[in-house]
Amino acid sequence: MNIVLIGSGGREHALAWKIAQSPLVGTLYCATGNGGIADCSTCVDLDVTDHPAVIRFCRDHDVNLVVVGPEAPLVAGIADDLEAAGIKVFGPGKLAAQLEGSKGFTKDICAKYNIPTAAYGRFSDVASAKTYVREQGAPIVVKADGLAAGKGVIIAETIKEAHDAIDMMFDGAFGDAGVEVVIEEFMEGEEASFFALADGHTTLPLATAQDHKAVGEGDTGPNTGGMGAYSPAPVMTDALVKRVMAEIIQPTAQAMVDIGCPYKGVFFAGLMITKDGPKLIEYNCRFGDPECQVLMMRMESDIVPLLMAVATGSLGDHSISWSDDAALTVVMAANGYPGSYEKGSTIRGLDTASQHQNVQVFHAGTKQHSDTIAAIGGRVLNVTALGENVTDAQERAYSAIDNIDWPDGFFRRDIGWRAVAREKNSKD
Ligand code: AMP
Ligand code: GLY
Repeated sequence: MNIVLIGSGGREHALAWKIAQSPLVGTLYCATGNGGIADCSTCVDLDVTDHPAVIRFCRDHDVNLVVVGPEAPLVAGIADDLEAAGIKVFGPGKLAAQLEGSKGFTKDICAKYNIPTAAYGRFSDVASAKTYVREQGAPIVVKADGLAAGKGVIIAETIKEAHDAIDMMFDGAFGDAGVEVVIEEFMEGEEASFFALADGHTTLPLATAQDHKAVGEGDTGPNTGGMGAYSPAPVMTDALVKRVMAEIIQPTAQAMVDIGCPYKGVFFAGLMITKDGPKLIEYNCRFGDPECQVLMMRMESDIVPLLMAVATGSLGDHSISWSDDAALTVVMAANGYPGSYEKGSTIRGLDTASQHQNVQVFHAGTKQHSDTIAAIGGRVLNVTALGENVTDAQERAYSAIDNIDWPDGFFRRDIGWRAVAREKNSKD
């Protein structure tokens, strides 16, 4: 079969790498891809905001399945338009994508279906938001309702900080995303990312991961899209996985059926493991980036039948097999990221780095220029390794990075620190 993958980041390189291994695939196209994706798929310069053009491409190239990587095309309704044109798609429709697109929408579903999450209020004016903060006290969490590129969440230590955050959001700091504000109880615990597939009715757990959001070592500095990840997340025991499926994922899938927009695609649940059990922080309607990279390294099953089963509502017949090994990925980013950064610098040594055993170098913001690879984005490479535990995977990833010559980039040297400390303690 022929497949179109939409996206151009590290997540899509990992998906393309995995999809391309399937014997079921004829041609894999990627719109628009990057310097690494070009090695395992045919990159096409398709404007994915132009849905009729995407549909035309699929018809002209006998495409059987479209896999959507990022959230923006989903929130823009690309899955609805493809389905209406009779083209199968992995990814939720516009209404179902509200689980990521509107925090208030998700919180209301949690309230109605008793899904464990932080207590909250939704506000569309400054005065009532500030009154709620005064009643609840600090610490407290202030969030812009809509998509704000991961920057719309402020953990306020004091009532004044919360009031300032409310003023800033209603003043338009996040544009339309901040016309409504959600204010939440501050939850304490360890964070984990949980992934599950859903075909509209049936759900199937994938795997767990932990991300490193802060730019700096020791989890310091501003938040980013993610500077590294590993899978599985040691905090997520089998018992916790069962609870998350029963208490969070399945009730959400049911809620989406009940409101008339069954969810098809991947649930990416951000969880806080509190002393009272797992609680939902937020949903994303796509794979995490860089979490997807570590999931793809550990997945032993052919991914294509799974993607197709999600698209056709037949997930019930499937199971997934995973490597017991751990995977870890280190993000290399351009100097200056997540602030402003230069584009166009040359990266050398990628061939040598890729030759390390059990290592894959996934590309994010790169472009092939004749026979060199240039950095053209903020997050640029994901050096990803599989090892017998997180400590081993970490050693393999950093030793591959030693071969990469890119003076204009940087990376965190402590990716996996929490799991590595756990592994060390369990040996002592
Ligand atoms: P979000 O964009 O909703 O995932 O939030 C970004 C980060 O803010 C999360 O990964 C958590 O570290 C933190 N966070 C969000 N909501 C809460 C909460 N209610 N309690 C504690 N931390 C939170
Ligand atoms: N790494 C976090 C995300 O993909 O949202």
